[in-house]
Amino acid sequence: MSRQIDLEGITLLLRDDLAQVEQRLREGMESVAPLVPEVGRHTLSGGGKRVRPLLLLLASRLCGYRGPRAIQVATAVEFLHTASLLHDDVVDGADTRRGRPSVSAHFGARVAILVGDFVLARASQMIVEDGDPDILWIFTETLRTMSEGEILQLSRSFDPELPEAVYLEVIGRKTSSLLATCSEAGAILGGVTRAERRALSDFGWQLGLAFQLVDDALDYIGSEDELGKPPLGDLAEGKVTMPLIATLKRCSVGERTEIDALLKACAQTGLEPSAALDPAELEPVRELVVRYRGPELTLERARACIGRAKSRSEPFTDSESKRALFDLAEFVVQRSR
Ligand code: IPE
Ligand code: IPE
Ligand code: MG
Ligand code: MG
Repeated sequence: MSRQIDLEGITLLLRDDLAQVEQRLREGMESVAPLVPEVGRHTLSGGGKRVRPLLLLLASRLCGYRGPRAIQVATAVEFLHTASLLHDDVVDGADTRRGRPSVSAHFGARVAILVGDFVLARASQMIVEDGDPDILWIFTETLRTMSEGEILQLSRSFDPELPEAVYLEVIGRKTSSLLATCSEAGAILGGVTRAERRALSDFGWQLGLAFQLVDDALDYIGSEDELGKPPLGDLAEGKVTMPLIATLKRCSVGERTEIDALLKACAQTGLEPSAALDPAELEPVRELVVRYRGPELTLERARACIGRAKSRSEPFTDSESKRALFDLAEFVVQRSR
């Protein structure tokens, strides 16, 4: 049994850098439009895990870089993540995030979209100000790729025929691409070899796949308290994720008809919170998914990704940063929030 990991040790190691990132996040939400800092206070105090800045800061240290550029780029990637969540909650019709009303629920979808644009612009400015063309390139590639992931996902919502390969394409694009950019940006800051940069990018990519697989498993087995959002959101939103795909592959024809019917019923709500299905109506499908061990199989997949991530870090010798990166990888598969 591996030891329990939380983020405290890593957060302590990076304490000073993280404090600066938090400060830059607050400053970045200053604007002539008062709604921007208001939304900023709502989101920034909401207790995000800051996984992306942690990954970037650790990767840069692993590659021998310590300095202000890592703070700036770490702030930018957290802003990109924040913008993606502001928009994602509009698209998913999600009312709750980080244990409180989402920005779209609290301020309305129009505010979430516009402030999301502002935050994205802020992130881009910080990357342009940093001035490294390689970081600018991977940042904009991720921007495009994340959008493609979300668009692809939307266009295949409520589709029980969704092939596993397309699901993996979606999660790679919407989640892994940003984590890969974080670790690769750390490598660029450290000025390491092409091979080391590639290895770290792959590390982030595998970590990202694991991260989203776990997120998708927790949606079926986590509690609202742990997740900061109601469970079964993916099912209600029509997202066909790994636990459901695994179940659809193994269940009987009758059970499949039941799942198809529920997805159809969810599609008819049009993601209007007022028309949303009662959680009790989702329960029979959750029970099927649990009975067919969908979440466990998904977590096994996530652990395999973590194994691959770790093996990609072989070019780097043992160090405090490498051990912390491994702890971050372990946290991703052990987490319940
Ligand atoms: C949520 O990401 C979106 C996914 C990629 C699953 P996080 O779980 O990192 O969100 P916060 O920032 O900690 O709230
Ligand atoms: C992750 O997808 C969102 C992005 C990568 C933009 P989800 O829709 O699964 O994330 P949650 O569940 O809303 O946090
Ligand atoms: Mg969502
Ligand atoms: Mg989710």
